[in-house]
Amino acid sequence: MRMYDIILKKREGGELSTEEINYFVKEYTKGTIPDYQASALLMAIFLKKMSRRETVDLTKAMMNSGDVLDLSQIEGVVVDKHSTGGVGDKTTLILAPLIASCGIPMAKMAGRGLGHTGGTIDKLESIEGFNTQMSEEDFIQQVNKIGVAISGQTGDLAPADKKIYALRDVTATVDNLSLIASSVMSKKLASGAQGILLDVKMGNGAFMKSEEDAVELGKIMIDIGTNMSKDVVAIISDMEQPLGRTVGNAIEVKEAIEVLQGGGPEDLVELCLVLGSELLLLAGLNVTREEARNLIKEKIKSREAFRKFVELVKAQGGKEEQVLHPETLPKGKYEIKFISDNTQYIAHIEAEKVGSCALLLGAGRENKESKIDLGVGIYLNKKVGEQVNKGEAIATIYANDEERGKQTIEKLKTCYQYSDTPIEERKLIYGIYD
Ligand code: URA
Repeated sequence: MRMYDIILKKREGGELSTEEINYFVKEYTKGTIPDYQASALLMAIFLKKMSRRETVDLTKAMMNSGDVLDLSQIEGVVVDKHSTGGVGDKTTLILAPLIASCGIPMAKMAGRGLGHTGGTIDKLESIEGFNTQMSEEDFIQQVNKIGVAISGQTGDLAPADKKIYALRDVTATVDNLSLIASSVMSKKLASGAQGILLDVKMGNGAFMKSEEDAVELGKIMIDIGTNMSKDVVAIISDMEQPLGRTVGNAIEVKEAIEVLQGGGPEDLVELCLVLGSELLLLAGLNVTREEARNLIKEKIKSREAFRKFVELVKAQGGKEEQVLHPETLPKGKYEIKFISDNTQYIAHIEAEKVGSCALLLGAGRENKESKIDLGVGIYLNKKVGEQVNKGEAIATIYANDEERGKQTIEKLKTCYQYSDTPIEERKLIYGIYD
């Protein structure tokens, strides 16, 4: 088989065979296919697209390129949740202990971020001592003991995706439905859960800008999972503005703690109730959607969910004190406010741009070697639909470098649009598909 022929076939709009896809994934992972040929094929796929069959084959090939976790030693149906990525998305920090407090095992492999802020693992490292690198054995043991564990990848999961994603990132071939679906699903399938909940983000802060594309992506991923005998549900949720009021790392942990203690911003709480209910249904709990929602609310109200988070932090070596007193979590030393010149309504907040403001502050990684500043971040005092009075804060920045903080405020000002009259509330959930 020659890579040249495979590229040519796709360039001409042909359908690649299973063998051709397997050859590409295997040889590229091994390093025998050079980046320039892999890039050419990715661009041909981007332009000519892939059929459902090709997409499923690509997913399987990437999933099988490394370890596939066996979670059969965990008692109960293991469920997992994945978000296609959004600004201010801290739902995993909330849902893992919350679902575990309902008696459903949460064995969560999470990632580091290469983007506006860190990923779940980076965020958890805001808590002193929290160990995010567990062995597979310890990971499984902890889930059986306390019902929840959150770790960075234990084995070498889907190494083909890591290599291909890095190449897509620099060759303008990320936002293709088949390539995104196979990338996400290869990792999820290799992580070993039986039930997979996908939070497909839609809007200016997401890969999928339109509802139509988001639904299509959700359906492709459901198709892939079903083909591999998994139970998959996709929720389409809004990412036109950041989720919740915080964007950063420690500042997001703080907000997650607020939700677990019964507070927190309305949109974040609502999304957690919706995602949480679906996770309970996926786990096979014999309840209606409404009963699932009520059970989750009850676990928050009784503080069982928060206690489970404390238990999780302790089990993984984190400092309990910081969870009990979140004001002791890292926080940028310069607090700079963005003050409103007028009394007005917030009409729009550009999520993507707020994300790049967080990156400018140092909350995310520009490349693999970048070091994250866990204490910096943005607090959105006002969100879309809310009124702000003249002289009141629209947002607050926490920086460790005053100059960068000032630059960020200037950039943040360009993320907002205003209205003199009240504006309609945005929808949060656009659909649930299975
Ligand atoms: N998230 C992934 O894991 N892969 C993609 O291709 C896009 C988002």
